[in-house]
Amino acid sequence: MTLCGSALGLIGRTPLTALDRIHPGPGRIVAKAEFLMPGGSVKDRAARAIVEAARADGRLAPGATVVEMTSGNMGAGLAVVCAALGHPLVVTLSVGNSPARARMLEGMGAEVVFVDQVDGQPGQVTGADVAAAAVEAKRIAQARGGFYVDQFYAGEGMAAHRDTTGAEIWEQTGGRIDAWVAAVGTGATFLGVAAALKHERPTLLCAAVEPRGSEPLAGKPITKPKHVLQGTGYGLVPPHWQAELMDLSISVTDEEAERWRRDLACREGLYVGYSGAANVCAASRLLKSGRLAKDAVVATVLCDTGLKY
Ligand SMILES: Cc1ncc(COP(=O)(O)O)c(C=O)c1O
Repeated sequence: MTLCGSALGLIGRTPLTALDRIHPGPGRIVAKAEFLMPGGSVKDRAARAIVEAARADGRLAPGATVVEMTSGNMGAGLAVVCAALGHPLVVTLSVGNSPARARMLEGMGAEVVFVDQVDGQPGQVTGADVAAAAVEAKRIAQARGGFYVDQFYAGEGMAAHRDTTGAEIWEQTGGRIDAWVAAVGTGATFLGVAAALKHERPTLLCAAVEPRGSEPLAGKPITKPKHVLQGTGYGLVPPHWQAELMDLSISVTDEEAERWRRDLACREGLYVGYSGAANVCAASRLLKSGRLAKDAVVATVLCDTGLKY
């Protein structure tokens, strides 16, 4: 028998799929199918790494409560990990996130605490909205003596992406890869993979994806804080940002994300969320820009399933 002992064993080792229909050339886009993991998103990896580290060093006692602010995906990842390891989970969620996310979290046994939006609107969650949800999560963790995950400050997320996602991409491409492109929430995915790939090949190009008008990583003033790339583009440089791992920033409009999302579904059979669609849009633009060789390979990530929206 070849078995996974629990859902934890379903996290990681996602397939790398070519996107030749939606981008027939020049070059090739390859994408990690992160939506296939049990929580339905890339955040499963960070969730497992942070909880396992906290259990190992005693910050999280057996059976103790886990508390976190989430746009939905970290919460789902934590729900998977907490179910498998026997921890109650409380998540705070801005009401601006899609109702499908709250339904999934409640269905997975998490206690969901909704937090009013500060300046965003439904479907468009701003940095201030996320900060308000984080304040509430911290308050609940203190009041209940729970472990506060604090994903923006937890270094285990980036390390998990360096040691798993990045290592997997290098292995799955046989080292035949020229660039890495990804949107940034906490930055764990972008930075971890960039660190792993640049360690293998220092000249490999790493491009962050930002919503047009909310591009602090590119050093631009915020002119449009609201956008559809839920889970990313909060209008701030993440706390542990490592500027030396980013070679450029590529901006994507809401209309482009919508169009590429639809094309990914209808032409590739990949029904994913907005950030994944923005990543593919940016990868295609990079390949068409002439900055890379005509046969270049660009890796990116399909962050979550479209069923969450
Ligand atoms: C849909 C989606 N895409 C991308 C990301 C970005 O991931 P990271 O926090 O690793 O930067 C997130 C994070 O929550 C997300 O929910």
